Amino acid sequence: MGDNWIEVCAADEIDEEDVIRFDHGGRTFAVYRSPEDEYFATDGLCTHEKIHLADGLVMDNIIECPKHNGRFDYRTGEAKGAPVCVNLKTYSVKVENGTVFIAI
Ligand code: FES
Repeated sequence: MGDNWIEVCAADEIDEEDVIRFDHGGRTFAVYRSPEDEYFATDGLCTHEKIHLADGLVMDNIIECPKHNGRFDYRTGEAKGAPVCVNLKTYSVKVENGTVFIAI
């Protein structure tokens, strides 16, 4: 089965170097726009204590969790050190006609 592309929002609704929360089908995601104007998506909850990452801070290609300042590379989901040790799941993103979609 192919990817299921879900519409998230207009591309300009996410500021550069920022993140939004996106809920769909009982799940929550975080959708990022990098300083290079690329879009990425991960699971929305920190792998440490299920805190919404969209409430955290985007710095370059890192999302910093608002609770204990755990950091992930949001392009790959890689956990960047204590207290986070479990990587985030990532999702494919595409922008078409000014609209952001993620594959879930
Ligand atoms: S809940 Fe995210 S670092 Fe602890």
